[in-house]
Amino acid sequence: MRIPLIAGNWKMHMMVRESVNFAKDLWELIKDTKDREVLVCPPFTSLYAVRQAIEGTTIKLGAQNLNWEDAGAFTGAIAPPMLVDVGCEYVIIGHSERRKIWGNSNEDVNKKAHAAIRSGLKPIMCVGETLEEKEADLTRQVVGTQVEVGLKDLTASELKDLVIAYEPVWAIGTGKNDDPAQANKTISFIRDVLGSRFGHNFSQKIRILYGGSVKPDNVDGFMNMSDIDGTLVGGASLKVESFARIVKFKYEEANQDVHR
Ligand code: 13P
Repeated sequence: MRIPLIAGNWKMHMMVRESVNFAKDLWELIKDTKDREVLVCPPFTSLYAVRQAIEGTTIKLGAQNLNWEDAGAFTGAIAPPMLVDVGCEYVIIGHSERRKIWGNSNEDVNKKAHAAIRSGLKPIMCVGETLEEKEADLTRQVVGTQVEVGLKDLTASELKDLVIAYEPVWAIGTGKNDDPAQANKTISFIRDVLGSRFGHNFSQKIRILYGGSVKPDNVDGFMNMSDIDGTLVGGASLKVESFARIVKFKYEEANQDVHR
């Protein structure tokens, strides 16, 4: 059984006080919602305060990036053990904004995956094609390579807590979400890639999320798909009511067991 994961990536938003208030308000709205895991990924500056605000709740904490070294002369960088120290359980790696703006390559993402796992952090590895790549019919090639190279030299047991987020770059922050059935096809392709590398059982256990313009009014469509195990939400995770509604996504009657 793959427990759905609803994750909010706050990106470069929210001051410390807002973050704390958000976390507390979120818990009030979602505390009766069971059978799903809820994660917030605040900016580094809010991690410690949010960790304290979610004490005693089931909300999980994640970071948005890490450096692959554990310590040293790396001005401005954050080491994996620091994220563990501050209370993170998850870390996002390879987000398309890190790939595009900071030039992170698939090899860099692989180093980050190794570093996260070495420190006991659960990596959420983002993959996804650009509009040009989609139009050139390269989605599978691009995403397949991102998965293969990103997970190089890691074993199935090391990757037992891996999460993959399929985020088509053209769908991020544009209001143009992928069609749920199409996203499901790409995600099932990603599962096949995992299957050929690590075996069928492994591929059936790993959670693969969809991200890109997920909103309260389209989340149910994604969550009723057989291979979509959750969502990674940007803009709509910044308003507590909208994120809470996404957390409370609904299965159609026939799909109650879709992820079981
Ligand atoms: P939006 O939900 O704002 O499109 O962002 C998606 C994203 O990049 C989450 O990591």
